[in-house]
Amino acid sequence: TPSAPPRAKKHNYVVVKDFAGSIMGRLADVFKKAIKEAFPSISVPLVLTEASNAKFGDYQCNSAMGISAALKAQGTAKRPAEVAAEIVAKLPACPLISKTEIPPAGFINVYLNEEFIAKQCGEISRHGVKLPTIESRRVIVDFSSPNIAKEMHVGHLRSTIIGDAISRLFEAVGFDVLRLNHIGDWGTQFGMLIAHLFDRFPNFQKETPAIGDLQSFYKESKKRFDEDADFKKRAYECVVKLQNFEPEFIKAWTDICNVSRTSNNEVYDKLDIVLNERGESYYQTRMGAIVEELTTRSFLREEEGRHLMFPTGCDIPLTVVKSDGGFTYDTSDLAALKNRLFEENADWLIYVVDAGQSLHFDTIFAAGRDLGWYDETQKRVEHVGFGLVLGEDKKKFKTRSGETVRLKDLLDEGVRRSEEKLKEKNRDKEMTPEELVAARDAVAYGGIKYADLSHTRTQDYIFSYDRMLDDKGNTAVYLLYAYARIRSIVRQSGVSESDMTAFATNNEHLPLSHPKELKLAKQVLKFSDVILQLVDTLMLHTLCDYLYTLSSTFTEFYSECYVVEKSKEGTTTVNMNRLVLCDVTANTMEKALRVLGIRPVPKM
Ligand code: ARG
Repeated sequence: TPSAPPRAKKHNYVVVKDFAGSIMGRLADVFKKAIKEAFPSISVPLVLTEASNAKFGDYQCNSAMGISAALKAQGTAKRPAEVAAEIVAKLPACPLISKTEIPPAGFINVYLNEEFIAKQCGEISRHGVKLPTIESRRVIVDFSSPNIAKEMHVGHLRSTIIGDAISRLFEAVGFDVLRLNHIGDWGTQFGMLIAHLFDRFPNFQKETPAIGDLQSFYKESKKRFDEDADFKKRAYECVVKLQNFEPEFIKAWTDICNVSRTSNNEVYDKLDIVLNERGESYYQTRMGAIVEELTTRSFLREEEGRHLMFPTGCDIPLTVVKSDGGFTYDTSDLAALKNRLFEENADWLIYVVDAGQSLHFDTIFAAGRDLGWYDETQKRVEHVGFGLVLGEDKKKFKTRSGETVRLKDLLDEGVRRSEEKLKEKNRDKEMTPEELVAARDAVAYGGIKYADLSHTRTQDYIFSYDRMLDDKGNTAVYLLYAYARIRSIVRQSGVSESDMTAFATNNEHLPLSHPKELKLAKQVLKFSDVILQLVDTLMLHTLCDYLYTLSSTFTEFYSECYVVEKSKEGTTTVNMNRLVLCDVTANTMEKALRVLGIRPVPKM
């Protein structure tokens, strides 16, 4: 059995310049210092987590066990609880911590200082939600990348949704992001498509051919290709001419690609996806240069007329040149890799492609390292894989008749059902037609995106309209309602934006005392840490989990804490601190939803 090629080491690439609101970052800093001072001879990684239960404080440092074991190996016996006490004794003064506790097992429970919480919340209300400053990177995110002449399928939808969210995340932390749509627009199938176009639309030079449905056009030409030897010969000649960029052939090719392009763009527009198309064709001349480089540097081996490259540790070679002289998917990815590293000068490359292609990418990256194109301690090059989309029958997602589901149909069905649901709840009676459309689309597209993003990326997930449009549980609809509700609380209080700002300016520390106020504030403040972690792991479901917890924490707060109080005499009192906390919560939710590519609507 072939062994998997060596995985690239994942270099931690996230260098934080200013932790700003990051609590974990700042706590890690003081604990590292304390450990270094208390145990200079020991180096074990710091273990810092959120407390699993409020009984154990807010955060926990669990390094004492590891240090105790390391000491034992050096011949010193010290119980974890003693180690913990020595760490705490060396903790530098830190405005975040109000107290620490050491239970017998040797954990260090950390309680946050309420004054710090109040100050951070005040800061957010005055200056907005700020993220930590991370050393900027030039990142290329290769995503969506469907194949021309084949319908974009749900796998490409996953890539589109995940790749867009990753790009949004990077943009939010200030990275320089290039979003690339590496479409499959080159290759031998274009020969038969062009030959067929010449026959069907002899006038195509003057008039844009009405190709109509590209799928059937593809099937027609494939049939001829398989049955008619003469046609087949012409198809091959067309490929050669296309790849030599002969104008007539480029024109025909462009017409064909435009059919796909138009229908793909419809999907992107609906989903607010921005992409730069740079398909395989872009690399044609660069592929020639790659073959030259590999030949001169003796990296190619000839086998039965094919030119192969065997990267270190890989059992399956890359086919760089086919026996007919043509290039392959491998060749285009080698050329793309080099282009992105050297011409685009990117230092972080991401390929959002289904997990089924991991062998391909591992082999391409191994080749890049063999060729000395990049040093993995300096640059991060990675395949961000994802699982399959399954139907409710747990089989590959298909239409009832077993065909690929057209993405446009899938989105339209989501919109139809979302409208139906809103009407069931009589929302149409309370919103203007424009507001209804905005809510309907936010729910439908947000629901589809969120269903994907809230599942662990690397696993398969089951596509279910009922589940994604459910307003209970961890769904986009639930979050969108929660968000709209908070906005409406603020709206209906009658307090203006400027009054809130004035309050926040007069109160450097947002006054918070009720346990549920504090609980909500702490959850709000975790946002920076979630983002920081996400930039490294690219596991977007953690942001979804965060949002869900934030919404439920808000609900807890709101059911116990009056924001606006009405007396029997009819006077109303607005608790300004709580109103500002609502606003801060809504702003944080909005920022998180935007990272996920979900449109928050103020009214639902
Ligand atoms: N077009 C390919 C497919 O549909 C995906 C391309 C992904 N990107 C890349 N650089 N190989 O399978």
